[in-house]
Amino acid sequence: MVRCGVPSVSRETIQSALPHVLSSTHLEAIGARYEGKVRDNYTTQDGRRIIVVTDRISAFDRIIGTLPLKGQLLTTCANWWFEQTRDVAPNHLLSMPDPNVMIVRECRTLPVEMVVRAYLTGSTSTSIWVHYERGERSFCGHKLPNGMRKHERLPKPLLTPSTKAHDGAHDVSASRDQILAATKMNPADFDAAADMAMSLFKRGQQLCADRGLILVDTKYEFGKTPEGDIVVIDEIHTPDSSRFWFADTYEDRFGSGLDPESFDKEYVRRWLASRGFRGDGSIPTLPDEIRVEATYRYVEAIERLMGENFRPHLSAEPEARIRRNLGLE
Ligand SMILES: Nc1ncnc2c1ncn2[C@@H]1O[C@H](COP(=O)(O)OP(=O)(O)O)[C@@H](O)[C@H]1O
Ligand SMILES: [Mg+2]
Repeated sequence: MVRCGVPSVSRETIQSALPHVLSSTHLEAIGARYEGKVRDNYTTQDGRRIIVVTDRISAFDRIIGTLPLKGQLLTTCANWWFEQTRDVAPNHLLSMPDPNVMIVRECRTLPVEMVVRAYLTGSTSTSIWVHYERGERSFCGHKLPNGMRKHERLPKPLLTPSTKAHDGAHDVSASRDQILAATKMNPADFDAAADMAMSLFKRGQQLCADRGLILVDTKYEFGKTPEGDIVVIDEIHTPDSSRFWFADTYEDRFGSGLDPESFDKEYVRRWLASRGFRGDGSIPTLPDEIRVEATYRYVEAIERLMGENFRPHLSAEPEARIRRNLGLE
């Protein structure tokens, strides 16, 4: 398959956004603030959550800096996927009043991350490949065949849930029964969320395949509405929450023992790893050229996925624009 054209946003345009990154917001007037690694969340009195997707980037569970336009790219991508999957799983999205903002229904979050994996890959301690490489042949209650190689497709996509880590701890992957025992969550809620995760993944795989991409693995979060319905929350199938590979080069590279061509956060992770950083100790400062290149790759990824050009909003003061779009001034 022929690669799509170059990204519609030039490196120069991305460079021009560098002085105007959205690193954090203070909109306490709209509700109680919770600062996540990537998103600033505000909970309103009337049951909505206003999620400001900032330009912060996390890797190895740490905030490692900002990338210009990343918040807009992620918001665009997550919204696109929510529209494409509404028939498969209901989601929390209500509206998108600003390129960096999603207004969603406030839910009670389920204490589990539903990870779905279609390939034997990964490099962090929670990854299926690292377990397999150590000789383990069972992962989250699934038996794994002998003789598999790194990056090989699994016989079928596996649900490998993990508990949500708090305060900088790493997530722990576990079987359904272990998660139920550890979290005391309602088994029917777990099963409803697990079914939706598998259906969402299937839809994600199909849409990615149409674009010459492989949805390798991903993570979903679920919440319960005040009416008691389980809905998908947070974001789905973005380069932050998922791993994507190019389908056209996968077989050849796998056959030659090379890493697949990927277009997710891998670019930034590899740069950090090349500086010896794997999550502990002081964080190397991302040089501007790496930040611009990383954003350029996010644009490539998202345009390829959506099959549409991404139109950046180049505001000198993004927080002021957000305030206006939220009717705060
Ligand atoms: N509809 C929702 N209701 C309640 N919580 C939500 C909803 N959507 C997302 N969240 C939570 O909001 C936070 C989003 O910010 P993020 O930067 O991802 O934080 P974190 O560092 O905790 O992952 C997450 O903790 C996520 O679980
Ligand atoms: Mg998160």
